[in-house]
Amino acid sequence: MSTRILVVYYSATGNTAALAESLAAGARETGADVRVRTVPETAPADAVAKNPRWQAWVDAGPHHDLATLADLEWADGLAVGSPTRFGGPAAQLKSYLDSTGGLWAQGKLADKVARSFTTASTRHGGLESTLLAINNVFYHWGAIVVPLGYADPHLMESGNPYGGSFVSRKSAAPDELALGALRVQGKRLATITTHVATGLKQAE
Ligand SMILES: Cc1cc2nc3c(=O)[nH]c(=O)nc-3n(C[C@H](O)[C@H](O)[C@H](O)COP(=O)(O)O)c2cc1C
Repeated sequence: MSTRILVVYYSATGNTAALAESLAAGARETGADVRVRTVPETAPADAVAKNPRWQAWVDAGPHHDLATLADLEWADGLAVGSPTRFGGPAAQLKSYLDSTGGLWAQGKLADKVARSFTTASTRHGGLESTLLAINNVFYHWGAIVVPLGYADPHLMESGNPYGGSFVSRKSAAPDELALGALRVQGKRLATITTHVATGLKQAE
């Protein structure tokens, strides 16, 4: 059976979605079975309407199916992404993570391989604090957090060792350097998840 990878993201203007797609493509290169899912937009309509790029993204949706708890249970490994919002993950994404208590209580999230990715508009605007905040959830689950490090030569140019990231200064869309780092992240996630999942099955 193929390794099962879930990519869950929230995006208001498309940047995190593009990173999610690239990470998924990297994971698929290994032969993994990959699901890309998003979460519901819960912001008030007038807040969305005040930002034309946000409104355009909402109007162009739905971009992916909504993530369910069954998706999470299905996955051997997962990547979770959010735009940086005041130095942390968006509430829309956190809301999904906060709905996982039942699975957590049954121990069903332990030993999943997990990592995070993000985008912020400024270089020092909180990329790392968002990644670390998402990772905190993984620690509580008992998941195995796999950092990006500088595990691939590509990352010496593009790298953020805490996780895939992109600085969208002046509304730039993710560039090839950032997308390449996300592909590396997806490939590494799927490869390590395969080793972990195989080992866990053998130990059953
Ligand atoms: C409410 C709000 C808060 C934000 N907070 C930050 C921040 O703390 N640091 C930063 O650099 N960018 C911040 N941004 C900018 C977004 O992180 C950035 O535009 C990101 O690329 C958007 O990703 P998306 O297209 O996936 O929504 C914020 C944007 C919004 C709307």
